[in-house]
Amino acid sequence: MLAALFRSKSVDQILAAPEEGGHALRRSLGAWDVTLLGVGAIIGAGIFSTIGTATAGDSARPGAGPSLMLSFVITAVACGLTALCYAEFASTVPISGSAYTYAYATFGELIAWIIGWDLIIEYAVGNVAVAISWAGYFNTLLGSVGVHLPEWLTTDFRSGAGVATIRDAAPHIYGVPIIFNALAAAIVLAITGVLVIGVRESASFNAVMVIFKILILLFFVAAACSIVSPAKMAENWQPFQPNGWKGTLSAAAVIFFAYIGFDAVSTVAEETRRPARDMPIGIFASLGICTVLYILVAAVFTGLIPYEELIKRMGNEQAEPLTMALDHVAPQLTWVRTLVALGSVVAMTAVLLVFQLGQPRIFFSMARDGMLPPLFARVHARFRTPHVTTLITGVLVAAFAAFARIDEMVDLTNIGTLFAFVLVCLGIPILRLRDPDRVRPFRVPLGAWLIPLLGAASCVGLIVYLPPASWWRFAAWLMIGLGVYAGYGFTRSRLNAARDKMLPPVLLVSAMAFLAAAWGMLTLPHDAMPLVLLERLATDWRSAGAAPWLALGGTVIGLLLFFIGGRGVRRDLRP
Ligand code: ALA
Repeated sequence: MLAALFRSKSVDQILAAPEEGGHALRRSLGAWDVTLLGVGAIIGAGIFSTIGTATAGDSARPGAGPSLMLSFVITAVACGLTALCYAEFASTVPISGSAYTYAYATFGELIAWIIGWDLIIEYAVGNVAVAISWAGYFNTLLGSVGVHLPEWLTTDFRSGAGVATIRDAAPHIYGVPIIFNALAAAIVLAITGVLVIGVRESASFNAVMVIFKILILLFFVAAACSIVSPAKMAENWQPFQPNGWKGTLSAAAVIFFAYIGFDAVSTVAEETRRPARDMPIGIFASLGICTVLYILVAAVFTGLIPYEELIKRMGNEQAEPLTMALDHVAPQLTWVRTLVALGSVVAMTAVLLVFQLGQPRIFFSMARDGMLPPLFARVHARFRTPHVTTLITGVLVAAFAAFARIDEMVDLTNIGTLFAFVLVCLGIPILRLRDPDRVRPFRVPLGAWLIPLLGAASCVGLIVYLPPASWWRFAAWLMIGLGVYAGYGFTRSRLNAARDKMLPPVLLVSAMAFLAAAWGMLTLPHDAMPLVLLERLATDWRSAGAAPWLALGGTVIGLLLFFIGGRGVRRDLRP
């Protein structure tokens, strides 16, 4: 059973996959396109919106204050270490699927499945967050030209239902108010349409937006420096760490969202002309450009508005942090704010595009391996794009964007992505041991261990500073993934070609048990660390209610059944 779960593909098998079965994608991208795709994915909701929470803090975490600059440096170091590992993988295994593909070559099938499942969080859930943020800014822009949409069309259900004015104004069906974020859903569907037509066209569209958003960030920095003197900024940078290191590190964990995307470059490896050269260039150039811009923006942002003032304003208004800071120092300059708001809308459109491009390619790779239904591996006859997965992703992301809350989506995206990064880092020494002679056009410097281990440790460090609620949701997501694997991928995987494709009943039960575990975890109180919750459960077991027990019981039973079921499968289906 264990051997079956951890069987891995050789790199040669992975490299041959695209040629089999007519599933190859078109190689049309160069280093420049790839760098632009990276910057397109990176600069977005993170710099334009999460820096407000990161600097001021919220009920779940302390703020960094002016040490936000340092937070950006810390997260850049963690991402840089991981980027080295991504570059080695992407140049060695230039195949669609990113971390999922690398995990298949190193850790084997089960972990590859977990990573693929986890990447849905990074790409699809991340895009839900960006779409919601996009909709907020777009709505502000509409307001500035005199178009005012009803609030029940621009708010998520849970937030809107709690506000009497929104609830009462909304239409009702059988007494339920109809409140959803129509703008967020609409932008996702529009982008999906562009992507079905083709990656080349999408890359050109992206290039224009990327240049525009870099100019907008530079414009923000220049405008701020001309309004406020360096001496005044230096004054606002004191106290530098109002909440000590805890604030700086918690902010580093939040603004990790702003860096997500350099790894998205690796999802188009199979569509680049010279992946060995283009992949490392694309990853480092995009990460480097964004790091410099972010530190500049953080310095200027915290220089414009004093920490205490920011906390007050963040508590009272739902404005974009950058435009809020400009409004604080120069309320009369409305055109400057409108331009920055427009820039953020454009920036986030580019992010949505790249992520919406990445997710279907991961589904596509998983389906090519038999872990998802074959429908997911279809390539459009004329456009040569994975159109089925593009459409499925688009519809799902749009549906969630219409109803979800942004802060929860950002935290979940961060933990999911950091987890994938940890496994990618650990994969480097493993592949070097398993396949030492493989040609590696790019190698992580200083040996196989030092940088990957530092990379993994720094990502774990950031996870620690994320709110516990995100840990629970992430664990539940993994449980759902294990349920799908037990119920489908385990017997359908192409590495299992000799096996019967019928699902043995015991695996079906095990899949249900995983889903029960996930349900339990999602219904647990989300406010504390696992150990604290277990302690509460132990001391107060009578009043804890059924959910925590179901969570624990479901998890244990699920794991047991899965292992027992897998043994049965192996005995019955031996070739
Ligand atoms: N890095 C991307 C953003 O900030 C996800 O929007």
